[in-house]
Amino acid sequence: GLASLADRLAATPAAAATVAPPATVPAPFTVPLTVPQTLRPVRRTATTDYYSVMMHRRRLEILPGTRTEVYTYNGDLPGPTIRARSGRRVVVRQRNRLDMPTAVHLHGGATTPDDDGSGGVTIAPGGERVYTYPNHQPHATLWMHDHAHHMEAEHLYRGLSSLYLLTDATEEALPLPRGRFDVPLVLRDAHFDAEAQLVWTMDDVENRNTILVNGRPTPRFEVQARRYRLRLVNSSNMRIFLLRLADSGIFNVIGSDGGLLEAPVDTPYLLLSPGERLEVVVDFARYAPGSSVVLENLMGPGPTDQVGQVMRFDVVPATARDRSAVPARLRTLPTLPTPTVRRQVELRMDEPGTGHRAYIDGKVFDPDRIDTTIAWGTTEEWTVTNANTTIPHNFHMHLVQFRVLDRGPNPADPTESGLKDTVTIFPGQSVRLQATFNTWRGVYPYHCHMVDHSGMGMMAQFRVV
Ligand code: C2O
Ligand code: CU
Repeated sequence: GLASLADRLAATPAAAATVAPPATVPAPFTVPLTVPQTLRPVRRTATTDYYSVMMHRRRLEILPGTRTEVYTYNGDLPGPTIRARSGRRVVVRQRNRLDMPTAVHLHGGATTPDDDGSGGVTIAPGGERVYTYPNHQPHATLWMHDHAHHMEAEHLYRGLSSLYLLTDATEEALPLPRGRFDVPLVLRDAHFDAEAQLVWTMDDVENRNTILVNGRPTPRFEVQARRYRLRLVNSSNMRIFLLRLADSGIFNVIGSDGGLLEAPVDTPYLLLSPGERLEVVVDFARYAPGSSVVLENLMGPGPTDQVGQVMRFDVVPATARDRSAVPARLRTLPTLPTPTVRRQVELRMDEPGTGHRAYIDGKVFDPDRIDTTIAWGTTEEWTVTNANTTIPHNFHMHLVQFRVLDRGPNPADPTESGLKDTVTIFPGQSVRLQATFNTWRGVYPYHCHMVDHSGMGMMAQFRVV
């Protein structure tokens, strides 16, 4: 299980990293954290917010004193945040000023197949496309990223990702920290060369050894001695984070991919594989003003990776009384219907040195093939197995939020008890999931969200009929 994995890793002495980042990468905690800007609608009507985004290349100062060429939504890395509300439609006009096709996917969103950004519908260079997001779903920390077939891994790596924060009355009624005390932390890794440029090589996991938080290298963040809500998003291609505060201080986990949990879960460890989100409350009042606490990553891309540093929180006195709280009850999730269809899904890739292909149920992705047909309204139970013995995978389904029933013989981790769209599957493990397909009909992908793997073929499609 997750807890024993965390304990094992925590007990392992840190080995030296095999590859050092280049000299252009600054010392940890020298760069301040920034928070992505909120995108302003170009127009609002009684029912709909309209936005306009341009995708273009930009040379941004990511490492101090140098510029790195990245692909951006509106010139930022991550792109600007869209704030949406359940029941209000969002329409985004996306203009592609890059020299390759793109497609924008709202990860975790229940959108029509046409607006899903997958399925080969791309925006040609110089072209544009309007995506409509109905937001007929509860609050959640969602994110947008490129999904252009065969290029999504490189496009995400080069910067095409941004946040989409969906709220609703349930969430707004809670006394959780809000405003500037509700902070997204988008985590990813990157491989910089000596000229501070991003190096893109498929499956280049050991060399992507610089951690960026909201696009800043191993930053520091000044926090008041009070409660903060931190929304952690893993936008890495491949890196799984196992996070811990250096003092093993408790995180109050309040949410995951599909919004708030029913009740908060206390844990010193957070496991976050690519595409996943976790929301936590940390009460920095437990630290003396003037002190600092480092957020560490215990898990590297290889077995010999070092204990990584992700960012540092520098605690300062609170300027006002903290009136936030974490209620013992956060929301009520719908009761689980009984599944009527059971399926087995197998994830497997060629072991290192034996090839470069990756499979679902023995097949490399083919956009012209429907792998699974689902009758609208059905509740299904999927047992997804990682058939590799050394390579971790995860599993993401478009369109639905699922529930994690168990991990083979072991119970699911309490932090996985809410709505999920992506779940980690360690080598040799099986995870049992349940989902109800009662929104849109049409074709959607399911895949490993370690996107270099999906790019090598670990992707398939279901059709809801
Ligand atoms: Cu986050 Cu198919 O993607
Ligand atoms: Cu994988």
